[in-house]
Parts: sequence; C-alpha cells; structure tokens
Amino acid sequence: MHVVTQQVIAPPARAGMFLVITVDEGAEDAAAALLTEISGLTRSVAFRVPDDGLNCVIGIGAHLWDRLYGEDTRPLHLHPFQEIRGAKHTAPATEGDLLVHLRCREMGPCFELARIIARRLVGIGQVVDEVHGFKFFDERDLLGFVDGTENPEGDAAVAAVTVGEEDPAYAGGSYVIVQKYLHDMTSWDALSVEEQERVIGRSKLDDIEMADDVKPANAHITLNVIEDDEGNQLQILRDNMPFGEVGDGTSGTYFIGYAADPGVTERMLRNMFIGDPPGTYDRILDFSVAHTGALFFTPSIDFLDDPHP
Ligand code: HEM
Repeated sequence: MHVVTQQVIAPPARAGMFLVITVDEGAEDAAAALLTEISGLTRSVAFRVPDDGLNCVIGIGAHLWDRLYGEDTRPLHLHPFQEIRGAKHTAPATEGDLLVHLRCREMGPCFELARIIARRLVGIGQVVDEVHGFKFFDERDLLGFVDGTENPEGDAAVAAVTVGEEDPAYAGGSYVIVQKYLHDMTSWDALSVEEQERVIGRSKLDDIEMADDVKPANAHITLNVIEDDEGNQLQILRDNMPFGEVGDGTSGTYFIGYAADPGVTERMLRNMFIGDPPGTYDRILDFSVAHTGALFFTPSIDFLDDPHP
C-alpha cells in the first residue's frame, strides 16, 4: 500500500515556526479530533499561497500517544526524551505532547496556520514553547557558520528519516528531536575566527571541512560524524533555524533533527554532552545552552487523517 508521508524532507525554508504544545487531561478526544483536521487546515492556508511552499509537520510525544491511542500501539522507538547529563553540560528533557513544525517562504502563512491551530487548541491544550525562526545570510546560524551543509539529500535523506519494514504499522513515519539553544554571543565573539573554526571543525567564510589531522577531537562535527558497526555513516536530517531578539540578547539556534531511528540522534547527543571518549564533550556547548529537549513521532498523513493504531 502506498503511504502518504508528512513532508519532513524540504529545502531550507526562509521562515519557520516551532510550537511545542501540551494537551490537558480529559481533552484526549478533542485532541485526537484536531489531529485529523490538520492536513485540511494546512490546505486551507497553503492553497492560497501556492508559490510559498507552506509545510506543516506534526509530531506526537510518547505520553500523549499512550493517552490517545493506547500504550500497546506505540511506534517501535517512541519514548520520552531522556535528559543527558555530562560532567559540564546537560541536555534537559522538557514537556511536550505535540510538535508543530511550520516552514514557508514567508512568515505570514506560517503565522496564519499557527493562529488557526492555536484557536482550535482552546480548551484542549497550551502552547508551552513557541519559536519563530528566520533564515540568516548564506544559511548561516547566529554563530556565523553555514549550518546544514552535510545534510543527506535525495535517496539518502529518505533513508535517513523514513521508518520502514522494521515497524510496518508505522512505515512512512519519522522521529524528531527538538532542542532550543541560546548562544552566549559575548563569549563567542571574544574568540578569534581561527578558534571558532576549531569549535565547529569547518572554515567560517567558505564552509570547508578541516582535515582530519587538524580537526580537534571536541569539534562539533568530529563528535557528530558517527558510524554503525559496519562502518556506514549514520545520518539524520537537520533543519535548524536561528531565532532571537536584540533587546534582551536572547538569541540562538532551534535544533530540529529528523531520523528513522531517534537512537541515532540520541547517540550524537551523548557524544556532544558526555563526550566521545567521555569528557571530550562538544566545545559548541561552552557557547550554546540547551533550554528544552523533546522527542516526537511524526506519523504518515494517512495515519493523521484516519488513525488506525
Ligand atoms: C553539522 C551547527 C546542534 C548534529 C553542523 C555544522 C554547523 C552546526 C555549523 C556544520 C555544517 C553542516 O554540515 O551542517 C549547530 C548548532 C547547533 C547544533 C549552532 C546548536 C547550538 C546539533 C545537534 C546535533 C547536531 C544537537 C545532533 C543531535 C550535526 C550533524 C552535523 C552537524 C550530524 C553534520 C556532521 C557532518 O556530517 O559533517 N552543525 N549544530 N548539531 N551537526 Fe550541528
């Protein structure tokens, strides 16, 4: 049977919104009904802006999944995000029953769809975290580095994010982990460009990877290039976005990573926060603090429209 998947794989967007939502006790039926309406609501906005590529991906957290559809129907790898505590830095686990990930060429349609969803949420739940992301110059994050270069493309992207025969009931779905990072721009800006390049593992201006013999063991990309036992690289699909305000100095990177198996992303996170070997943690964390952390399953559109656990 052909499965219609959510559009997890998309070119980098110019505008994005990330909504993390909690669902009230007793509002399960209403929440389940709302989920069946999401693809129709998305069409209502997207059809009016056909050139803007409005894209809405919905994720469901483990606790809400159990409440809506029963624990015994949980997708194979769906579980609550677990805090990762390293010697110096911690990836916190924070609340979240639903994730709404909106991407578009313009912010207007994202806002319109978010507003419609928020209106439907009255009496069902709350938006507990909301981030409006924008595209920065040259696909750069606010640290000034090009972010997303080594994302898998084409068939490799499909393989990296799509659940397959290992969980036939939920084939076509995906898992997503989100974390909101705030940057300490004062300390970051105090580093020389050469030092910053040693934090990331790539050159800043032209985005070229450092040679292995000079790339530090605690550089961001050293710790995030991981392999399975056969030596095949394990990949995820990232669509990070910068966000922030200049008045109070809170700015950062909203990390979002899709994977067919969230264990791949979790292994990257252990490398970053605990270190590989332990203690050799990701130097990017000395300048970026994770304030949220949550894991969701993004079912196929067929499932969202007509859940049949
Ligand atoms: C690569 C930035 C968090 C996984 C990169 C690159 C940059 C970057 C600039 C190099 C260019 C590229 O290939 O995209 C950031 C920032 C983060 C962040 C600013 C948050 C503060 C994370 C997290 C993970 C992750 C939490 C995984 C859980 C990766 C991976 C690569 C990468 C897999 C590609 C490695 C490769 O194949 O060369 N990141 N990142 N990043 N990052 Fe991050």
